Amino acid sequence: MPRKIKKLAVFTSGGDSPGMNAAIRSVVRTCAYHNIECFGVYRGYQGLMEGDFEPMNARSVRGIINKGGTILKSARSKDFRTKEGRQKAFDKLVEAEIDAIVAIGGDGTFTGAMIFNQEFDFPVMGIPGTIDNDIVGTSHTLGFDTALNTVVDAIDKIRDTASSHNRLFFVEVMGRDVGHIALNVGIAGGAEEILIPEEDLGLERLVDSLNRSRTSGKSSSIVVVAEGDKIGKNIFELKDYVDENMEGYDVRVSVLGHMQRGGPPSCFDRVLASRMGVKAVESLMEGKTNYMVGLIDGKMELTPLDNAIKGKTKINLELLRVSDIMST
Ligand code: F6P
Repeated sequence: MPRKIKKLAVFTSGGDSPGMNAAIRSVVRTCAYHNIECFGVYRGYQGLMEGDFEPMNARSVRGIINKGGTILKSARSKDFRTKEGRQKAFDKLVEAEIDAIVAIGGDGTFTGAMIFNQEFDFPVMGIPGTIDNDIVGTSHTLGFDTALNTVVDAIDKIRDTASSHNRLFFVEVMGRDVGHIALNVGIAGGAEEILIPEEDLGLERLVDSLNRSRTSGKSSSIVVVAEGDKIGKNIFELKDYVDENMEGYDVRVSVLGHMQRGGPPSCFDRVLASRMGVKAVESLMEGKTNYMVGLIDGKMELTPLDNAIKGKTKINLELLRVSDIMST
């Protein structure tokens, strides 16, 4: 018989992402639906260690489904990486008689949850929230879809000014280790070239591609660069390289930065967050622990946290080919 969950805590941790609030709302309301007491923990693991949590009910989460960021705040806690830190968090949970936690975040958040579960046999469930879409076990992480729409909107605007002045723009998008944002927005924004960490295209190919664009009659160009791209030069060095080695280009750089993580979540992210919250709470009620909820083939599925953390998401080769053909 699974241990009955009477009290549950939810928190957000790591980099925020649009849809986190919708997920908090879903967890809180699913708890209310099942008569489980729910606590909201502030500042992720840091708040857990400090006992910074308070009861939440269905009304505490009104008016947040459409809000970016996270009402529970987020943090990257160094102390929770220590055994003493985790012991403090466990003590606070025991003191408040909390039976399970739902952790909303990315791979760092899940690593913490998994270790905590192993050390204290404490029930944990993960909800993947990061704009990077770099978690195995879900086709979409919370915030990815919203970030794509935000970035495409920005690229459309950059294109207006790029074409007015016949300029080449290097646009840097987020993606420390992965190029999912870059690849998708590159296609959707009509980029001439997309530089991602998974593929080392080399400078020569970039130069060839720009020359081809020029001779085929293009007067302005957009190159999307993922921040973790491995071409060996940062975006400003890329500009310098083109300035120094290619004739006739008027180059500008635009680093989109943290605006990509803000803004109201898309309809897709709100629905996904609502589904994930329900699945997370009900899975804990069934006695499941140490899993992450995710979207696989349109259905809510569970993936062991270990697999979610250790696995590496693969770049979609079909999208890569489409982007090649589109930049002809
Ligand atoms: O959330 C992941 C991410 O968006 C990365 O793509 C990016 O490198 C990082 O966050 C930036 O994090 P910070 O908020 O710590 O600057």
